[in-house]
Amino acid sequence: GVKENRIVASPEFSKYTISRHIYGHFSEHLGHCIYGGYFVDENSTIPNTRRIRTDIVDALKKIHIPNLRWPGGCFADEYHWNDGIGLRANRPKMVNTHWGGVTEDNSFGTHEFLDLCEMLGTEPYICGNVGSGTVEEMSKWVEYLNFDGVSPMAELRKQNGHEKPWKVQFWGVGNENWGCGGNMTAEFYADQYRRYATYARNYGDAKLMKIAGGANSFDYHWTETLMKNVPLNMMWGVSLHYYTLAGGWDKKGSATTFGENEYFSAMKACLRMDELVTKHSTVMDRYDPEKRVALAVDEWGIWTDVEPGTNPGFLFQQNSLRDALIAASTLNIFNNHSDRVRMANLAQTVNVLQALILTDKEKMLLTPTYHVFDLYQVHQDAALIPLAVNTKDYVFGTEKLPALNASASRDKDGNIHLTIVNIDPANAIDLQVDVPGTQTLKASAQILTSDKFTDHNTFEKPSALKPVAFAGVKKTGESVGLKIPSKSLVVITLAK
Ligand code: AHR
Repeated sequence: GVKENRIVASPEFSKYTISRHIYGHFSEHLGHCIYGGYFVDENSTIPNTRRIRTDIVDALKKIHIPNLRWPGGCFADEYHWNDGIGLRANRPKMVNTHWGGVTEDNSFGTHEFLDLCEMLGTEPYICGNVGSGTVEEMSKWVEYLNFDGVSPMAELRKQNGHEKPWKVQFWGVGNENWGCGGNMTAEFYADQYRRYATYARNYGDAKLMKIAGGANSFDYHWTETLMKNVPLNMMWGVSLHYYTLAGGWDKKGSATTFGENEYFSAMKACLRMDELVTKHSTVMDRYDPEKRVALAVDEWGIWTDVEPGTNPGFLFQQNSLRDALIAASTLNIFNNHSDRVRMANLAQTVNVLQALILTDKEKMLLTPTYHVFDLYQVHQDAALIPLAVNTKDYVFGTEKLPALNASASRDKDGNIHLTIVNIDPANAIDLQVDVPGTQTLKASAQILTSDKFTDHNTFEKPSALKPVAFAGVKKTGESVGLKIPSKSLVVITLAK
């Protein structure tokens, strides 16, 4: 029995590592994520290297993004990689039917994506085409990327200017194959997975970590079918997609103009991630009690209406304090499920959905969600510390949610970090955090908050929301006392 508004850490029961790949990202050929985001026009005056925007690369390097998923999303199952290599002038064009019906000129393809990943110092996570592509096409893509020897695809790669293979590891076998990726049944997809995965070969030390296209939200049958019908050693991971909605799919709600009603419903939807990963993990446990297969939540985030006046197919949305608290709470959930959740990818890095970065021509801003990933990078590959959280409720009308959520870890230098969120929009909470064995450590803290949950960064005021030092933590013995402000994220560091 932990007292109310008390967090008790148990460093002695630390067992799992928080995979840095939980802090992964996702960039699709969608709206202005790639084109007009990362990738500028040929004669652009915006500083760039081989057309990749310098300010975006610098910002993402700072938060150490561990992996980047590409080219989709729904786009992946329409994408033919062979159209995106070789001389740009010779690359065929296609229609991006999912996202605005715009013409895709294939100027950003395999080489450009891997160039971007190298600049970012991040691992590529490529999603192959199962919906409309062939087994041969996927097989050849892997050979093109990873074979270090004499073969038709390795020769083609060399002709296109890349002598050595990239040795891509993370490999998605289709995306949302229950929907835009082919409208398949779970049983049919599981069989297709076995075929496609068979011919996505390992070459030498370039071993693929294959990820099966997983369930939509609460579809436990999909996960069960994959676990039952696919040999476990054929999958590194199984994916899961879940988006937070304040309203429904038909009326999602504005990103910046909303009341407490929508704030509450978004928080409620976000916190259901805990139920989802728990239940999908339970299904997986039945077939894989040793937890060899990872649950990869490779699309998540809040999905709102687009900004007024923008192309509805481009999914360009603003990003408020509410969204930062959603990111922070979701990452706490993933950390606490590190035994099974070993990869996750926020949708989508630049100018799309819950973005880290928004651009307007040469201008760029970091969203509140970016700052969450900045603050949380301390958890990457750190040892998860189990927490018991006893919290008062955040009450809204007749409904309630736990006001506090948290996660904690110990890094390789022995420093402890606690990330604590108070979602209650009106009430601060007097909180005591007990961390046994930390008598000699000093406490410091940072906070991300603002006056209103709708507050956000604009191109005129790009730094309205950003983390600042928080002086309100008091360390006594093994306990930290603080009054955590309403609607805030506080990161406590315990260090020598
Ligand atoms: O992230 C936007 C879209 O959401 C993706 O393309 C698709 O996989 C999902 O439905």
